[in-house]
Amino acid sequence: MHYKVGILGATGTVGQWFVKMLEGHPWFKVKNLAASEKRVGKKYGEEVNWLISQDIPKYARDLEMVPLDPKYFDVDIIFSALPAEVAREVEPIFAKNGFVVASNASAFRMEEDVPLVIPEVNADHLKLIEVQKSVRGWDGFIVTNPNCTTIILVLSLKPLMDFGIKNVRVASMQALSGAGYPGVASLSIFDNIIPFIKNEEEKVESETLKILGKFDGNRIDFAKIKVSASCHRVLVLDGHTEAVWVTFERDVSVEDAIEAFESLKPLQLPTSPEKVIIVRREIDRPQPRLDRDAGKGMSIVVGRVRKSLEKELKYIVLGHNVVRGAAGASILNAELMVKEGYID
Ligand SMILES: NC(=O)c1ccc[n+]([C@@H]2O[C@H](COP(=O)([O-])OP(=O)(O)OC[C@H]3O[C@@H](n4cnc5c(N)ncnc54)[C@H](OP(=O)(O)O)[C@@H]3O)[C@@H](O)[C@H]2O)c1
Repeated sequence: MHYKVGILGATGTVGQWFVKMLEGHPWFKVKNLAASEKRVGKKYGEEVNWLISQDIPKYARDLEMVPLDPKYFDVDIIFSALPAEVAREVEPIFAKNGFVVASNASAFRMEEDVPLVIPEVNADHLKLIEVQKSVRGWDGFIVTNPNCTTIILVLSLKPLMDFGIKNVRVASMQALSGAGYPGVASLSIFDNIIPFIKNEEEKVESETLKILGKFDGNRIDFAKIKVSASCHRVLVLDGHTEAVWVTFERDVSVEDAIEAFESLKPLQLPTSPEKVIIVRREIDRPQPRLDRDAGKGMSIVVGRVRKSLEKELKYIVLGHNVVRGAAGASILNAELMVKEGYID
């Protein structure tokens, strides 16, 4: 089983992780790369300002970059790491032309007929693909993954849903790589914390309800919980840390919550980690430098699970924002689509 894939926004922070994570992938082979117009006709290795610690994968160095136009793509699947405003124009053109688009961008995440998927949480939302194809009359389709902060939060909430969640409060400490390249100016972030990330709180609060909602045969019935987020940029390179408070319908013990976290099962997909949630019991974990690469960046790490106010627990969750929160999330979605027969 082999599928040809292309990457849009291949020179960016997320695009580079696509290039890296798809090296030697058992199902997907990268054929085409695109970024902004000034790159067209040039070699990827000469254009990209490579940010990842290992070298640029050999296969990608000499690939000639193509225009952002379906006729230059000889692939089955498109991975999109475009800015939202570009994605809004470009992704439908690819979907109309029969491509499967696995997107990181926020442009279509909240559209009624577009699946917003984390495979271990709501794989059945892929059933929206049929709705989307019939509503829009496209030969292809768009499937999205959530915002990075949301993915990390929701993976930790999923196993707690059976206890009856009433509301969730989250304070994020988000890495610099989440802002893309060149991101936040060094003189603004050094020795500092910036307590505002544009549109981030709204994304966390709305996307969470869609992902934890139920597919009713035609649309998603959003989860009936309340979420309040406060998002902050901190001087960390990779890895978002989130302090979470969850209020339940009833008392939930720390040990029951830990057992639930550890029971979230990985799927049998090439990019799945061995453990979805790793629980650390040390008092000072998780930490970005120590824990962001857990499960090659595809696990999330939970720690400091403890009692809070009445019927409430609090904990810290951490995940690699560009791997589990972006490129790895789209790749996992595409693997799931292959496994479930959505891609010929
Ligand atoms: N960084 C994260 O942790 C993260 C997590 C989840 C989701 N996302 C989402 O993923 C997307 C990419 O984020 P990023 O952090 O990788 O951003 P980035 O580092 O700024 O990269 C943007 C990419 O898009 C290309 N691009 C920009 N304008 C373009 C245009 N007009 N036409 C064609 N290509 C254009 C850039 O190409 P050039 O190099 O040629 O300019 C670059 O390859 C965004 O929608 C973001 O919200 C990011």
